[in-house]
Amino acid sequence: MRQFPHDFVWGVATSSYQIEGAVDEDGRGESIWDRFSATPGKIADGTSGEVACDHYHRWREDVELMRWMGLKAYRFSIAWPRILPLGRGRVNPAGLDFYSRLVDGLLEARIEPVVTLYHWDLPQVLQDQGGWASRDTVGAFVEYADIVSQKLGDRVKRWITHNEPWCISVLGYANGEHAPGIKDWSQALAAAHHTLLSHGQAVPVIRSNVRDAEVGITLNLVPAEPASPSLEDLDACRSFDGGFNRWYLDPLYGRGYPKDVVADHVAAGRLKSDVLPFVREGDLADMATPIDFLGVNYYNRAVLRSDRIPESQNAPRTVHVSDDKTDMDWEVYASGLTRLLVRLHQDYAPGRLYVTENGAAYATGPDADGRVRDTKRVHYLRTHLEASLEAIQQGVPLHGYFAWSLMDNFEWAWGYQKRFGMVYVDYATQKRIPKDSAHLYRAVVAQNGLDVELAA
Ligand code: FCB
Repeated sequence: MRQFPHDFVWGVATSSYQIEGAVDEDGRGESIWDRFSATPGKIADGTSGEVACDHYHRWREDVELMRWMGLKAYRFSIAWPRILPLGRGRVNPAGLDFYSRLVDGLLEARIEPVVTLYHWDLPQVLQDQGGWASRDTVGAFVEYADIVSQKLGDRVKRWITHNEPWCISVLGYANGEHAPGIKDWSQALAAAHHTLLSHGQAVPVIRSNVRDAEVGITLNLVPAEPASPSLEDLDACRSFDGGFNRWYLDPLYGRGYPKDVVADHVAAGRLKSDVLPFVREGDLADMATPIDFLGVNYYNRAVLRSDRIPESQNAPRTVHVSDDKTDMDWEVYASGLTRLLVRLHQDYAPGRLYVTENGAAYATGPDADGRVRDTKRVHYLRTHLEASLEAIQQGVPLHGYFAWSLMDNFEWAWGYQKRFGMVYVDYATQKRIPKDSAHLYRAVVAQNGLDVELAA
């Protein structure tokens, strides 16, 4: 029997801007994603989160879907501009009330609410003052965390400060693919620092507002492998792992910034010297505030080939990366999840781990009979759940799994073209149709194990 621990937390994840819509309702302020989406050329299909899944109005139906799936938990994020339309200062009670009603609805359905405070929709006013590149945003985030945890802390026990600081800083401030669309490495590194600092400073505030709180952070982590055993490829692998994974993990676990990566940044001209200009006394201790769990978002691995040797010389030694890819062009590689979880347990010993996101984009829509046969997603889900179980069997304290995502939604710079949902959304009618993967997940949750079959 391939069974999960009896108290394993089965959930799904979403985020506010990707599903809510209702961007102008009940006093919500502008977010950086409203501004970015409205800028021509930024979103592949020219869309925005203006309506999205209309979850703001249809949340009851969405909670019903989760109840039908038998889920134990739901990870969603709070839209900061609904709570503080101007970033700080005046609180908008209608915004808080929306999430308060959602939390009550979830608890009635016996689904545990798991809150992410920041999943990328920064109030635009704060961006106008520098956004995450500015140290003032740290204090603003702590105030926001205080307000939300005071309001919901009697009912919400599991808190995630930030979702994916790598995406916030690098996609937002270095390559500009995400809001606010800035291309400046010095701002990106400052943004990463301020994000982690605001996390560390918010943790004790949340704890003081919430009895029995479990507080953590979610990172997107990508296990790295060298394309060949050459020294050059090994070094490319070290460098990638350093910039993507260790730059965030090391400070969170009290090791400060990794020196080899600082040197890489200096060599690449991203830093002027090995003195990080944005680090002040006490910051490293704040960033390393002990947390209760680490949230891991896993989608794929990276296979690294050095650009220091000409491709023609290196190519024959390059490992073949499988053609099995999702619509994001991301390789399907389930054992990377086991490897990643084992490594985190060995290198950082986070105590508790959750997979806070894992999933796949495939466009599959309804057949003539109305059923959505998303066979590839079913396969992805099965193999990644097997990989999660394998990690548990190897001793990793993995306590839960949150599939990305409950339903198709606004996939950031890709717009609505990439469908990650276990529930299909017909955007013209807002009709929801559970895909085969939702049926599979429902069966897995009911059995708390993987020996389940889908109806043909
Ligand atoms: C993650 C994001 C999430 C979603 C998935 C596909 O990086 O946290 O919002 O876009 O990727």
